[in-house]
Amino acid sequence: MTFETKVMGHRGAAKIAPENTLAAISAAAKAGTQWVEIDVTLAADGLVIYHDDTLDRCSNGTGLVKEKTLAELKTLDTGRWFDEAFANERIPTLVEALEHIQALGLSLNLEIKYEQEDVDSIVPAVMATLAEHWKDKSKLCISSFNEAVLVRVRSLDADLRLGQLYEDIPANWSETLANIQAFSLNCDHSLLKKETALAIKEAGYLLFCYTANDPELVVDHWSWGMDAVITDDPSIFFNTGIK
Ligand code: G3P
Ligand code: MG
Repeated sequence: MTFETKVMGHRGAAKIAPENTLAAISAAAKAGTQWVEIDVTLAADGLVIYHDDTLDRCSNGTGLVKEKTLAELKTLDTGRWFDEAFANERIPTLVEALEHIQALGLSLNLEIKYEQEDVDSIVPAVMATLAEHWKDKSKLCISSFNEAVLVRVRSLDADLRLGQLYEDIPANWSETLANIQAFSLNCDHSLLKKETALAIKEAGYLLFCYTANDPELVVDHWSWGMDAVITDDPSIFFNTGIK
């Protein structure tokens, strides 16, 4: 099985535009990738695209995202911290991101950021939003570090493509991937070992590696069977001739 792309934009294209914004998604499209990864998380009254628990790093706000309403989040600037050229960029809602991605003709790797076990706080809401606002399931993957999130997604959708995320891959990866009927294993490129990569491929899973911003860092990974790299700047890889 080969995947539709070898290069996926990370947080949109986080080196080219402020991460997890509509501008970053547009930048990924302009850089030539068909696939973008973004992070969805809970605000006080809805779902937004944002990586961190707290607002401080990527906006002019402060405090916890989950304690802010969508209306409060919409007052914040999430572009200026990156570059003045992106001043007034807003934190997107999940719906806004889904519509923007589809308008650009892109496919989506939606990472559900949720570390707790009470996954019903987020998963049914994400799935209901996708059911209403995402048209083509063949252009969608859901990923998460939280196995319980993916188990719950699977209970709601029998055939959606699911990716288990890992930093360092644990010994029981095979049981976990079987449990969620995974499509892919998505791991930190810097921690992946050749033997594990070969075993993942031998077991029939796709292998995606994040976050590599220098093609030299994943030369071996391609030879081990890596299907796609997740990068902050897809153009760096396309410029090396990767298609
Ligand atoms: O999905 C790959 C990557 O996004 C996982 O790590 O922390 O960048 O969301 P993080
Ligand atoms: Mg992510």
